[in-house]
Order: sequence, then structure tokens, then C-alpha cells
Amino acid sequence: MTKYVIHGGKPLYGEIDISGAKNAAVAIIPAALLVDGVCRIENLPQISDVTLLLNILQELGADVRTVNRTTVDVDCSHIRNARVPEELARKIRASYYLIGALLGRFGSAEVPPPGGCDFGGRPIDQHIKGFVAMGANVDVRGGYIHAKAANGRMTGTQIYLDIVSVGATMNIMLAAVLADGLTIIENAAKEPHIVDLANFLNSMGAEIMGAGTDVIKIRGVERLSGGTYSIIPDQIEAGTYMAAVAAAGGEVLVKNVIPKHLECITAKLLEMGVDVEERDDAVLVRRTGKLTRTNVKTLPYPGFPTDMQPQIAAVLCLAEGTSVITEGVWDNRYRYVDEFRRMGAQIQVDGKIAVIEGVEKFTGARIQACDLRAGAAMVIAGLAAQGTTEIGRIHHIERGYEDIVRKLSGIGADIRVVVTPDEDKQAQVG
Ligand code: EPU
Repeated sequence: MTKYVIHGGKPLYGEIDISGAKNAAVAIIPAALLVDGVCRIENLPQISDVTLLLNILQELGADVRTVNRTTVDVDCSHIRNARVPEELARKIRASYYLIGALLGRFGSAEVPPPGGCDFGGRPIDQHIKGFVAMGANVDVRGGYIHAKAANGRMTGTQIYLDIVSVGATMNIMLAAVLADGLTIIENAAKEPHIVDLANFLNSMGAEIMGAGTDVIKIRGVERLSGGTYSIIPDQIEAGTYMAAVAAAGGEVLVKNVIPKHLECITAKLLEMGVDVEERDDAVLVRRTGKLTRTNVKTLPYPGFPTDMQPQIAAVLCLAEGTSVITEGVWDNRYRYVDEFRRMGAQIQVDGKIAVIEGVEKFTGARIQACDLRAGAAMVIAGLAAQGTTEIGRIHHIERGYEDIVRKLSGIGADIRVVVTPDEDKQAQVG
């Protein structure tokens, strides 16, 4: 078993660089399927979700070349295959973007149902509603989602999303860029990564208007051609390190960010008594005094992001007074609470609401990451805790955080990766 061992209780000082956005990268890589020519994608985060998607493109027949640590050239011009290999696709949630991209490119797609973090049900009915409205037949058989445009090419139409869905908005955009005619998505999601995907596609010749508002219009074009695109910084990675400073104390310059994307997180930290100073492409986070309680409700952008909910909970556990979190996006995103309790947190959960009574400190414990952001929150708790925290199942964390151990060590954290072969055997048996 590989685990993180953290000796906590040390304030964090220095500078930290933020990588490219995971949730933009995992849509932009499949989007390369729509491009006739070489896409140079820059500022890619080095995380396992990115590696998996690049491997899937290669298995489909794409030419993928590494240019440097954060840049790849992807050429999908010669792909003829629209069936995604099962083993790789099941490991990742974002494999669903391959449905929209392959439908757009070939008018057909065969993709296994998506994997990813478990937050209760994760339906994709809104994605399918969009594809069907654009003229595709979609059914599930033999463990695969089969989608096929009835007349060989997707057809533009007007689609109203019943739920604001990041995935459905981006997937329908992917299916629409090469479609016949105009597609209009109403009640679209507005996250920064949606704008980033639109900017990527537009830079390759697509005609997408309104990304970042709740109505997106996509006029289908005949072809997209190659180009170079740099992915935006990761809002959630930045927010996670901001929360780490809030919990552990200290002063850190979080660099290579778009401060506007962080405003929803900054606002909450300010309410809790943390200093946050915006610079052009950085934020300075400082916490020296006590943390004060607040309430948080997660909502689609520009609301407070659900992907920061466990991390802000870790900070609120240390704030004076009673805080209330309302999870407004997922049914079951409190699976980390039992692990926090082992560290001394006082949290009661009822459905989508968590009530947190602030405690003086966390105490180190042996805990297990249960999903990506929950794992990141456990790291934050460990950094602030008195004593030693051991976190297992760290593969969840490495799906979405580039070099988290190196980055945190660079700002003074005492965190290291430990491999214990015996426990590895036990884990396989158990
Ligand atoms: N929903 C439906 N039907 C659908 C799609 C969504 O009912 O067809 C519901 C979901 O069950 C959920 C809500 O709508 O209650 C929002 O889901 P959304 O589709 O926006 O989520 P997603 O696209 O599956 C992405 C991110 C998640 C992030 C959410 C919300 C990726 C790969 N994943 O998921 O990120 O929590 O948007 O912002 O982009 C993470 O990075 O840790 C992560 C889980």
C-alpha cells in the first residue's frame, strides 16, 4: 500500500504553483477527436486522469507525442475506430466526453459507462436527452453505451437542460461543433472549464457563442483544424491549497491562478477571518488569528463549488462556533465525515446538510481517502493536526492533484509517500 504520512501542526510559508485545470483537460483531450490536424495542448496537469484519456486516444489510433512535461501534440486525423476500450474508460468519469466527441466526429460512438468518484447516483440522462434531440439513437447493451446519429451526422436543435449539468453542457457542445445547423443549449452550466472548452474549440475553427452564460449557441462547421491551446489554471487545486493555509496557518502566495475564478472561495475564507489578497495572476493567503464560523452552500458556478466542499469542511472543523454546510449538487458527498471524526472533528450529517461544531485541533489518525476531494480534505486535516496522520488509498488523490507531496513540501509541510509492501498484500486479499 502506498500512503501519505503527514506530521502536522506546522504553518505553511512560501509560494506554490497551480497546474492546468483537471476538469478542463478531461474535456479538451476528447475534444481533440474532432480536430483534423495536430492539436498542441499546453498546461496539461500531470495527473492520472489525463494519462488515462491520452492512452484511450492512443488505443483509438491517435498519434500522441509528449513535447515537454505539460505539453502534448495530439493528432486524431487518422482514427477510424469509434469503440472505446473498456478497461481504461471504466476508471474515469470523464470518459463520457468521448460519447459527444465521437458522435460529433463519426456520427457513432461505443463507450463503456463512466467510472469516477462515488457520490450516490451519477446519472447521465441529460447528456442522452441532448444526443437524442440531435438525432441520435442511444441504448445500453453488452455493457456499452451505443450511440448513433440516425442520418449519419448530428443535427443542430434547441435543448433545455432540466438540471444545470457541467458534463451535459460540455458533451452536447462536443456533439454540436461539427453538426448540421445551429444547436442552442439553454440552462447551460457556466463553470470556467466550460468557457475553456469553448475557447479551445473556437481556436480550432468552431463557432460557439455564449459559453459562460446560461445560453450557449453552437453553429456547426464542416471541419476543425489544428492549433495550439493552453489550458486555464485549476480553480479547485488553487482553492485546496488556499484552504490548507487557512487550516494550518501561515502565509503562501498561490501562483498561476485566475483570481476571478477563485472569488467564490476567497469570499468564504474572508468571512472566516483569513486574509486573501488578489494579485494579477496570484493570491496571497495569510492566516495568523483564529478562524470564525460560517455557513456554506454549494451551487453551480459562480456559487461555491461542490468540489471544494470537503476541503472547506476541514477548515470549518477548526473554526470557533457552529457552521452549517448544505451540499446543493450531489446526493452523497459526506463520505469523508467518519474519517474526520477519527481525527476529533464534531460533525453531524442529515441528508445534504452537515452541522460542524468547531474544535480546537485535529489529532493525527490512520485514515483512508474515499474519493478525490475527500482525500484532499484529509491531507488538509493532516497538515493542521497535532501528531501523525497516515492516509491510505491515495490513488484517489493522484487522479486530480499533480505532485501534491512535492508542492506541499515546498511550502514547509512535513508530508511524504510511504510504500509498505506487506500491507499491499493484505489489501489485495481483503
Ligand atoms: N445530473 C443529472 N443528470 C445528468 C447529469 C447530471 O441528474 O445527466 C445531476 C447530477 O447527479 C448532479 C448534478 O446534476 O446532482 C450536477 O452534475 P454535473 O453533470 O454538473 O457533474 P459532472 O459533469 O458529472 C463535473 C465534475 C465534478 C463536479 C461536477 C459539478 C468532471 C469530470 N467532473 O461532474 O468534479 O463535482 O461537475 O461541478 O468535470 C471532481 O473534480 O472532484 C468532480 C467530482
